[in-house]
Amino acid sequence: MCGIVAYIGRRPARPILLEGLKRLEYRGYDSAGLAVFNGSIAIAKSAGRVSVLEQKVNGLGGFDGTIGIAHTRWATHGEPNDTNAHPHTDDVSKGHGIALIHNGIIENYGVLKQYLEEKGHTFNSDTDTEVLTHLIGELYDGDLEAAVQGALREVTGAYAIAVICNEQPDVLVVARKGSPLMVGVGKDEYIVASDSSAIVAHTTQAFTLDDYTVAKLTRDSFRTTTVDNVPLTPQIRELEFDLDQIELGRFSHYMEKEIHEQPDSLRRCLKGRTDTREGQVVLGGIAEYARDLVKARRIIFVGQGTALHASMVGEYLMEDLAKIPTEVEFASEFRYRNPILEDGTVVIAVSQSGETADTLAAITEAKQRGALTLGVVNVVGSTIARDTDAGVYLRVGPEIGVASTKAFIGQVMVTTLLATFIGRRRFLSADYVSQLLTSLEALPDHVEKALQLSEEIKDATSRYVERENWLFLGRGHNYPVALEGALKLKEISYIHAEGMPAAEMKHGPIALIDDGMPVVFVATKNSQYEKVISNIEEVRSRGGHVIAVATEGDNAIRKVAEEVFYVPDVPEPLQPMLTVVPLQMLAYHAAVLRGKDVDKPRNLAKSVTVE
Ligand code: F6R
Repeated sequence: MCGIVAYIGRRPARPILLEGLKRLEYRGYDSAGLAVFNGSIAIAKSAGRVSVLEQKVNGLGGFDGTIGIAHTRWATHGEPNDTNAHPHTDDVSKGHGIALIHNGIIENYGVLKQYLEEKGHTFNSDTDTEVLTHLIGELYDGDLEAAVQGALREVTGAYAIAVICNEQPDVLVVARKGSPLMVGVGKDEYIVASDSSAIVAHTTQAFTLDDYTVAKLTRDSFRTTTVDNVPLTPQIRELEFDLDQIELGRFSHYMEKEIHEQPDSLRRCLKGRTDTREGQVVLGGIAEYARDLVKARRIIFVGQGTALHASMVGEYLMEDLAKIPTEVEFASEFRYRNPILEDGTVVIAVSQSGETADTLAAITEAKQRGALTLGVVNVVGSTIARDTDAGVYLRVGPEIGVASTKAFIGQVMVTTLLATFIGRRRFLSADYVSQLLTSLEALPDHVEKALQLSEEIKDATSRYVERENWLFLGRGHNYPVALEGALKLKEISYIHAEGMPAAEMKHGPIALIDDGMPVVFVATKNSQYEKVISNIEEVRSRGGHVIAVATEGDNAIRKVAEEVFYVPDVPEPLQPMLTVVPLQMLAYHAAVLRGKDVDKPRNLAKSVTVE
């Protein structure tokens, strides 16, 4: 949700900023802009992708300085056009030449704008961000850091910002509240970015800014303070990030790459966490809270989108394996509906990015109400990871494709481990856990096998890809997989798809089924198999075309399904991590066949840092 990158050092800023923007483009891609100081601040902006900005700026002079800021936007206030693109500047006639980029939302921009207009400021754009630029300009008195601190004391909302000023050309000021921001520390240079992907090519030393922190950077020094100018000492840490992880390699899209990485993602997620001999799960991140978890009386998972679907699998697993009453809630609803959290409630936030505003707010609410909070998060050091009491990382590596894939199976794997960890301390025998862990360890190989279906799935998808309405149906543990399959298809190929429990279809949605409508069933062998087959018959008798994900060896299903994608037989609780794979591939191929931009679907952004 907007990517920002800023540089101060001794090298030309422009290529570093453009390269950084390309790395961060997954966060927003409706317009982009950059500002470089080279005697005075030069600014270039354009609607569209970073490549459009790059073409524009490479043909222009004046961008050869060694300090600059750049932004790729996901619009909240004001349509995506050149004017609303960042950087924004303070008042042209009476300003100090301040340029600013911002990720987040200034909630009280209305009153601030009125105040500034009364002071004679003229606004150019429809954005909330511009208000901040003018406010800094209004407060500027020869000290950019002090003006930024002063302005931030007045604003409510979320921000990660970077600011430069014509009158102080050797200073870069950055700050953060609610939106992510990280400072890479190089030799005589600093690279600031929304995440480490734009930093690692230059340095592996970095620190994350905490909320309400302002950093003043010069070429050879930095200082961090609160917005009230109280000095802070940040912890510089080594970034664990390999550039290969964020290169496309032999793949055409990040989504395709990430789907194919899933066997290794699972292996990394499992590494060192299973003790098959002893029938134990080893989770260092939550060991300190093991007793609280064993005594938990209720578990609430919160998340959004794909993370919510993974949480729904988590609910089944937690009740199955740990026998603790469990619920799942949209984090956005949980936060605002005055939830009752009795003693012994554990709230688990599931999030790939660890920055989703709704999920973060839900955790804040849960903590205020005294609940123990855990994070099931991918991005190390992200806000949710830091703000929860404890947690377990997914370890699936950076996910760049906007449509979440490997994070889903990582989230399900971690919730499986969590449920087993608690269950073993409550009711599960060491033998049972041993067997379960053996099946878990075999899962990456099964996923690898499922990936071989890609061409077959592409071929089948091509027969239905023109259809505009699809249904995805599943039961039990595979019901959330049906939801996830529908979400994947709609978000990247813009086909209307609905997912639901297979039994729910006849309570209304069955009216949609007409001749040739594609209906995707997760119909693997498990306790509800016969019932799913009955639902398939109901679809067929109304002219629907059935695409089934089935268990290897189930020849009978060919009689009732037009297309069958076979996956290996695994125990019922573990099926979602396998059955989701053909559905991810189906969505991927549908989007490619329809000529859509798979990694940057329209209107979306990777990490949703606004409510
Ligand atoms: C869908 C997708 C989104 C995210 C959701 C939560 O493919 O990626 O639905 O799952 O925005 O994001 P995180 O997991 O970062 O909290």
